[in-house]
Amino acid sequence: MVSERATRTTPFAAMDVLERANRMDDVVHLEVGEPDFDTPAAVTEAAVAALRAGETGYTSSRGKPELRRAIAAYYDRRYGVDVDPERIVVTSGSSPALLLAFSTLIDPGDEVVLTDPYYACYPNFVRQTGGRISTVPLSADEGFRPRVSEFDRVLSPETEALLLNSPANPTGAVLEGSTLEELVDLAGENDATVVADEVYHGLTYEGEDRSVLEFTDDAFVLDGFSKRFAMTGWRLGWMVAPPDYVGHVNRIAQNTLICAPNFVQSGGVAALESGADFLDEVRDTYRERRDYLVSEVEDWGLSMGYTPGGAYYLLIDVSDLPGDAFDAADFFLEEAGVAMTPGPDFGTNAEECLRVSYANSAERLAEASERIQRALASVELSPAD
Ligand SMILES: Cc1ncc(COP(=O)(O)O)c(C=O)c1O
Repeated sequence: MVSERATRTTPFAAMDVLERANRMDDVVHLEVGEPDFDTPAAVTEAAVAALRAGETGYTSSRGKPELRRAIAAYYDRRYGVDVDPERIVVTSGSSPALLLAFSTLIDPGDEVVLTDPYYACYPNFVRQTGGRISTVPLSADEGFRPRVSEFDRVLSPETEALLLNSPANPTGAVLEGSTLEELVDLAGENDATVVADEVYHGLTYEGEDRSVLEFTDDAFVLDGFSKRFAMTGWRLGWMVAPPDYVGHVNRIAQNTLICAPNFVQSGGVAALESGADFLDEVRDTYRERRDYLVSEVEDWGLSMGYTPGGAYYLLIDVSDLPGDAFDAADFFLEEAGVAMTPGPDFGTNAEECLRVSYANSAERLAEASERIQRALASVELSPAD
């Protein structure tokens, strides 16, 4: 019989929309969070050289020592934080790192607190490991940034973990260092562990990237190469685990994942050691696209009510359009040939929204905007009071 856990796993709407859009002609893709840049050449060359040198066997399940050293050096360089490479476990993307973190932390019924809107896959990671979620509501008029007092209200003795994501998917909100520090303290007071998803670090346009590791060693930090180095298909990420947990994480990784691909890990070393210029260029490009799209949304007559500070997403409010957010996504896909993701996938506080990804070229964004304006010309918007 199919397990209850499997039947409770919800589909990832962005991938569903993508599959549908791929069956249609000439769609502008604003639904998936996938960089449109090529992986830096130095990374590809390093991986090819590793393949040619026969680096095709298993590695240690924690990852190659040179990659773990490069990751530790990165924390020192970027955040001034000393991370022992022994606390680092390399994974095939940050997604398996999330699964490892929750597998290590969660007993059946344990609570994980998330902000809502959240990355659509988070509740499924928690459910896979037998946990349950509680949420801290976020709103556009507060820039989708959480209040520490709201976390305080939601945390309970059953809370095992707080999951933080900055810059955030789907809102692009960036948390300030002072907020992170207060949340770390609050978690400590409640015997809960912070799990920080920092995959969008490097793609920050307002404020600065602050790692949770600046404030505590007792946190799981997940990160990876997919977003900032345009390496989604390489499947490479990592976790920094609290000292008391890393042995447990590694035992689960040894049994279930064995290791991340050997030659791919060599590409990762090259990305960390030579990717800084690439990252600057990519960030400036995304910032320009964000500025463009934010001003276009106003021209469409739709509202956002906030300015995203990072990642490459924005949430637009479609409550003035007829029907719900799924109808709005259908409308833009069918009438305008523009694919966007319905907000309900990202939580109740995104229910009246669409998530728009600007990981697409300036030309395609301009094309999308023109098509959307044309499609909207035939629709009566009904502004809510
Ligand atoms: C917030 C967030 N975390 C994690 C991931 C997973 O990324 P990967 O497994 O490619 O590292 C994504 C992908 O979209 C994401 O948006």
